[in-house]
Amino acid sequence: MLNFFEEVALPVSIGAFGQQNTMINAIGVLTSGGDAPGMNAAVRAVTRAALNKGIRVYGIRRGYSGLISGDIIEMSARDVSGIIQRGGTILRTARCPEFRTEEGLQKAAEKCRELNMDGIVAIGGDGTFRGAADLSRHGIKCVGLPGTIDNDIACTEYTIGYDTAMNTAMEMIDKLRDTTASHDRCTVIEVMGRRAGYIALNTAIGVGAEAAIVLEENYDLDEIASNMLATKKQGKSHFLIVVAEGVGQTDVIARELQEKTGIESRVTVLGHVQRGGSPTMRDRVVATEMGYYAVELLAADKTDRVVGMKDGKIYDVDIQEALSMQKAFPERKYKMLYDTAF
Ligand code: F6P
Repeated sequence: MLNFFEEVALPVSIGAFGQQNTMINAIGVLTSGGDAPGMNAAVRAVTRAALNKGIRVYGIRRGYSGLISGDIIEMSARDVSGIIQRGGTILRTARCPEFRTEEGLQKAAEKCRELNMDGIVAIGGDGTFRGAADLSRHGIKCVGLPGTIDNDIACTEYTIGYDTAMNTAMEMIDKLRDTTASHDRCTVIEVMGRRAGYIALNTAIGVGAEAAIVLEENYDLDEIASNMLATKKQGKSHFLIVVAEGVGQTDVIARELQEKTGIESRVTVLGHVQRGGSPTMRDRVVATEMGYYAVELLAADKTDRVVGMKDGKIYDVDIQEALSMQKAFPERKYKMLYDTAF
């Protein structure tokens, strides 16, 4: 396959890390864990940014399992045409238990050496970064990019896919409001987030829900029920309650609210629909910025870094430090939801 560089003149490459005369021959890019809208935009940015520096690019299919099995294709600039607007990931994704074993890691590192692949950009969540850190111990330079709809990665304010997922949830819940209002009901909506309530909280604010029930905060159904009854007396006729998947009690919550208030309460689980769809402008732009930055890091011979966003700017942090950080739940925002809900 023709490399982009056999067709066009090499542009001068001056990045965030200065003029680069890179020793990197080739890099791989993979997506791992749950897919997220915007991953394709990141793959596109990584591919083109690297090719424009004279670095060959391999697309590794199905995350780390493709690296072990050799399910790898060399990518040209044209291979990533027309994907910036597509949801999912053209590289596919998988979770790979074998990669957690020494044998699996050795096979993967061997495959990288076979292809002269000096570095890898791994797009995913904390599990993906742990894999990248392990692989780098075997001599392969690794940079992680945060891609998950949950926005639950501590070292970054923002993860690729979050905005799209919340907008999808918002559109769905806006539709649910129509029917909830028509029937004077309460709808309890379960949104994604096995370990994190960020989607639930922000979506609840965005749709004007009465409550967000999340793992990070204690909740009191008696209090929610009495607020519902008090505002019903003042004329409020329907209610929206958003529950994070990780709470795991959505049916029970709806049943108890119905028993406590006498208001008919139904459950809707939004599920994986939130992981699909065309990425929003924000996800496309952030994914492109992060992908571009990751290539600059590798070209500057850096390894064990995670690209993130801090104070609205793209930055990088040591991978072990990133993995040890804790993300605080936005207490003030949570309080604000309740202070503006009824
Ligand atoms: O990618 C994050 C996420 O969508 C979580 O919100 C959810 O709990 C989990 O993945 C579901 O994973 P799977 O698709 O493997 O069931």
